[in-house]
Amino acid sequence: MKIAVIGCGYLGAVHAAAMASLGYETIGVDVDEAKIERLRRGEPPFFEPGLPELLRAGVDAGTLRFTTDVAEAAGSDVVFVAVGTPQRAGSDAADLTYVDAAVESLLPHLAAGTLVAGKSTVPVGTAQRLADLIAPTGATLAWNPEFLREGFAVEDTLAPDRLVYGVADGDDAAVAALDAVYARILERGTDRLVVNYATAELVKVSANAFLATKISFINAMAELSESVGADVTQLADAIGLDARIGRRFLNAGLGFGGGCLPKDIRAFQARADELGHGETLGFLREVDRINLRRRDRMVALIERELERVGGDRVAMLGLAFKPNSDDVRDSPALDVSRRLQEGGRVVRAYDPEARETALRVVPGLEIVTSVADAVCGADVLALGTEWQEFRDLDPAALAGITDARVVVDGRNALDAAAWSAAGFRVIGLGRPEVAAA
Ligand code: UDX
Repeated sequence: MKIAVIGCGYLGAVHAAAMASLGYETIGVDVDEAKIERLRRGEPPFFEPGLPELLRAGVDAGTLRFTTDVAEAAGSDVVFVAVGTPQRAGSDAADLTYVDAAVESLLPHLAAGTLVAGKSTVPVGTAQRLADLIAPTGATLAWNPEFLREGFAVEDTLAPDRLVYGVADGDDAAVAALDAVYARILERGTDRLVVNYATAELVKVSANAFLATKISFINAMAELSESVGADVTQLADAIGLDARIGRRFLNAGLGFGGGCLPKDIRAFQARADELGHGETLGFLREVDRINLRRRDRMVALIERELERVGGDRVAMLGLAFKPNSDDVRDSPALDVSRRLQEGGRVVRAYDPEARETALRVVPGLEIVTSVADAVCGADVLALGTEWQEFRDLDPAALAGITDARVVVDGRNALDAAAWSAAGFRVIGLGRPEVAAA
């Protein structure tokens, strides 16, 4: 079987490497020459655990190749489209320029018997439009959304919770082709759902909308907890024990960021508006607002603590939108850092992986290379991303190298008792403050 993957960003690079690891002759295609050069050397253009090994294995075995020439996708059995659908400038809607350009560029290289399988997250209605566009070539289209999480991308691609195939009515050949591609995953009993195009498109955006809503729900409870003296972490533990609710994705804190959830809920709302269903998804605007208010709260807490000690130096631990990633797209931690800096505060940040990516977005930010450098001389410590390295910190040792005696834990990830015992006041989001022992 020959596989092509158009778009070698986060989704595509991981997907191509995964396809090669399943034993298929795979070609990854991208318009970005620099990215292709790196991938040819087996180097991922971003940090993702497990991906370097997978890429190198495919490149060394010769089963995984990369090119900027889309013509090399010709003759593939399945062509995956995995280009980005970012938020359109000046709008909430998804920018489909890359999807449209990818499919247009493929048209001369498609033939009967080829299956084009869309993986990108798209507004409902896109797949049918693309199916009509490629129909004259004899190729057919399936929509096969991807649910991978950054930091677990390899695992999620090779061992997904479920596979979803959106196919045209009666297109058994498309189902058979995808079954063949995913044979080794299906063998393990993975659920596979065959649905129509619109359902497949909606599965992806509604899953992300649900996850975002779950996070904003608990963050709304955090807002309330702050004013009534409740502890949102205990609240999450208690409601999470109800199996219908579940504890996962109930971590209150700085809220969601990244390249998916924020733009996907906005695009979903924008598409609903276009379809005359703006009111139906109106709650997603509130989900977005609750999420953004957590950043305001974090900035306000840090400002309050700086006033209190009469200082202006903040140590920010973490910049990535979540741990195990160097991605700072729409990162709450980076946003808080930037806002403090714009407000005239001196921010010294440290992140295990996101230094380069953060500097590209906020060039003036002072980003040091260790926790010790960040906290030395700081008046207030802040946690923006819950990397394991920060959870594992020894607060007693830190107390010896910083004058700060307060930590604002934006992810409710630190062991408050241990920090308190070491002489720090601990301020979480949605939790009563813990005094220094
Ligand atoms: C998400 C979806 O999980 C994935 O299925 C989809 O394919 C792409 O979007 P990802 O963006 O990699 O994946 O990150 P995820 O682990 O979902 O976290 C998103 C954001 O929510 C992060 O900023 C994280 O810190 C935040 N989050 C997550 C919380 O604030 N609380 C939680 O309980 C969980």
